[in-house]
Amino acid sequence: MRSGVTCHQINWQDGVSMVKSVTILGLESSCDDTAAAVVRANGPEISVLASVVYGQTELHAPFGGVVPEIAARAHAEKIDHCVEEALDRAEVSLSQVDAIAVTAGPGLIGGVLSGVMCAKGLSAGANLPLIGVNHLAGHALTPRFTDGAVFPYLMLLVSGGHCQFLLVAGHDDFTRLGGTIDDAPGEAFDKTAKLLGLAQPGGPSVERAAKDGEATRFAFPRPLLDRPGCDMSFSGLKTALLRARNALLEAQGGLTAQDVADLSAGFQAAVCDVLTEKSRRALTLFKERHPDTPPLLAVAGGVAANGAIRDGLTALSRREGAGFIAPPLGYCTDNAAMIAWAGLERYRAGQFDDLTLVARPRWPLDSQSAPMLGSGKKGAKA
Ligand code: KG4
Ligand code: ZN
Repeated sequence: MRSGVTCHQINWQDGVSMVKSVTILGLESSCDDTAAAVVRANGPEISVLASVVYGQTELHAPFGGVVPEIAARAHAEKIDHCVEEALDRAEVSLSQVDAIAVTAGPGLIGGVLSGVMCAKGLSAGANLPLIGVNHLAGHALTPRFTDGAVFPYLMLLVSGGHCQFLLVAGHDDFTRLGGTIDDAPGEAFDKTAKLLGLAQPGGPSVERAAKDGEATRFAFPRPLLDRPGCDMSFSGLKTALLRARNALLEAQGGLTAQDVADLSAGFQAAVCDVLTEKSRRALTLFKERHPDTPPLLAVAGGVAANGAIRDGLTALSRREGAGFIAPPLGYCTDNAAMIAWAGLERYRAGQFDDLTLVARPRWPLDSQSAPMLGSGKKGAKA
């Protein structure tokens, strides 16, 4: 993980100039990554002084998915080391930190509790302000510290646990324009890999296999494209892939490398088409709501690492006259720099919590929109 990098300058937009430098320690433990990071703002200049991520992929690999109890135990074991390492790498002592920011939800409750309890202990012990951060806000605000994005912008959050379009108008002002009504695309990539005998996590291995494949050999559906709006669905696509695979198994008794490549390419092309067309619609909504603002589309989440999807969204943005931001991969996937950053934005706004801060398994960013139940089975997400 890169650290010590001075990121883009930020235009705070609210005219409030920061009189001193502010240093935030961030903690993240909502799914299967234990992470700690130190982020500093010195006027408009933002630096990630350290960003440490302890992944749990090997622990969960034998089970084919994240096991909440195993995740919670691993977070509890690792989080203190992770904090120490982040402070060491940043060459910052706790006395030089201005506040502790921690993911307080949404996510797997055991993991979220590990982070919240650790942050409360640090806050009480070192007498530092505590700031609870919504994990999704961390993702949604990432283009601010990686690329200096100014409000408002459109965010496509697409990972193993989330899939939604957010209109981000301020650090605490999110409007959900649509999202998956069932699975998240990352889950569908992981399931596809499992069905095709490819390694986990599935996204990168399906993408690799797809490179040698013929995307048009199988006619996979593009779910919900026939309906207006920005909602998406990926479970039918998973079923279509299962059927196509089973038909081959029945006919041939196995899958050739070319079959695996073609199935991967067909699946990836379908996900890519759905995300691109729904992004086009979300950009249209953005333009209607902010006719005087140059449109900007940003992505975050592990699936945003996919080259075909990035290419599709880059081309779409060009066609639509919109800017496009895809943050460096280490800041697209779960990390604590995004939590420290979101905490920093709350610190500036004077939004603090205290030791009554609660860990929340569900916590929709946009309280005005109805929660999408069942969206994302990898973790209990909003
Ligand atoms: O954001 P992330 O690290 O964790 C959460 O889900 O919160 O995303 C992980 C997901 C996994 O489902 C993984 O298969 C997917 O992102 N992923 C990809 C690629 N790299 C990771 N999906 C498609 N293409 C990729 N290259
Ligand atoms: Zn996440």
